[in-house]
Amino acid sequence: MSLPSPAADRTALVTGASSGIGAEIARELARRGHGVVLVARRVEQLQDLAGELSATGVRAEVLPTDLLDRNARAGLPDRVTALGLTVDILVNNAGLSTLGPVHRADAEAEQRMVELDVMAVVDLCTRFLPGMVERGRGGVLNVASTAAFQPLPGQAGYGGSKAFVLSYTRALGGELKGTGVTATTLCPGPVDTGFGEAAGFTAEEATDALPAFMWETPAAVARCAVDALAAGRPVAIPGQANRFSAIAAHLTPKRFLVPLLASRHPGLQR
Ligand SMILES: NC(=O)c1ccc[n+]([C@@H]2O[C@H](COP(=O)([O-])OP(=O)(O)OC[C@H]3O[C@@H](n4cnc5c(N)ncnc54)[C@H](OP(=O)(O)O)[C@@H]3O)[C@@H](O)[C@H]2O)c1
Repeated sequence: MSLPSPAADRTALVTGASSGIGAEIARELARRGHGVVLVARRVEQLQDLAGELSATGVRAEVLPTDLLDRNARAGLPDRVTALGLTVDILVNNAGLSTLGPVHRADAEAEQRMVELDVMAVVDLCTRFLPGMVERGRGGVLNVASTAAFQPLPGQAGYGGSKAFVLSYTRALGGELKGTGVTATTLCPGPVDTGFGEAAGFTAEEATDALPAFMWETPAAVARCAVDALAAGRPVAIPGQANRFSAIAAHLTPKRFLVPLLASRHPGLQR
């Protein structure tokens, strides 16, 4: 199944579009002719990207939103409608991670992570899917991680959140069969975006923990994501090394894998 064709009154809403993978997914969609609605908190970055994409001839709108705010999330569909647009493509990409063992974690920070990585995904899918199904066309791309394929001591809540996104999106795909709407999970391995630094990794820790051949560029990840979305594939894992390690992690008995991961994770070495 292919993605809905681009049209003047149709758009792709991309969360976390102010940097990293989200900005590249917006660029990739725009390159394929889709208009975009860019959502995140940093207005200047969103406006710069909207300017860049508008110059290529697509319609690019900015809707600054704090996705941790439930009322702000609830208001998004009306704000898109007010622009005279319908959302044919929903990309739930905004995400964050905490770092370190749960017994030393800040309870508020852990809840903020689950609110963004899990609740916002569920919320926006629930709000935008009915319109897509009614129109008989659409695509959802939810961004998880290769961390979705195994428990991740040192980032327990993050790994659990991404496992939720993978399971949820696969289930959506089953529910949506025959509706004209598809659901795809993007599961990147390491990508140099500033995400690791925001979580609390030093650049050295990140590169030491994961070998160079596993790292993908944001642009390559976005291409892989939009190809999979366009093909209606349920799961996309950018890079052969990441596909291999995700399968291996999924299949390895967890009584062996979890202690090994715990012994190597930088967030547990401090
Ligand atoms: N980089 C990696 O190695 C990697 C690997 C696997 C999966 N991922 C996943 O890829 C996705 C994108 O991450 P990235 O690597 O591109 O990192 P990033 O550059 O840090 O991007 C995170 C995005 O989320 C947005 N965001 C954060 N809090 C928000 C909030 N409260 N409301 C609205 N937007 C918010 C940020 O925008 P504002 O700050 O402007 O709000 C930013 O645009 C995440 O879901 C992440 O889990 C990343």
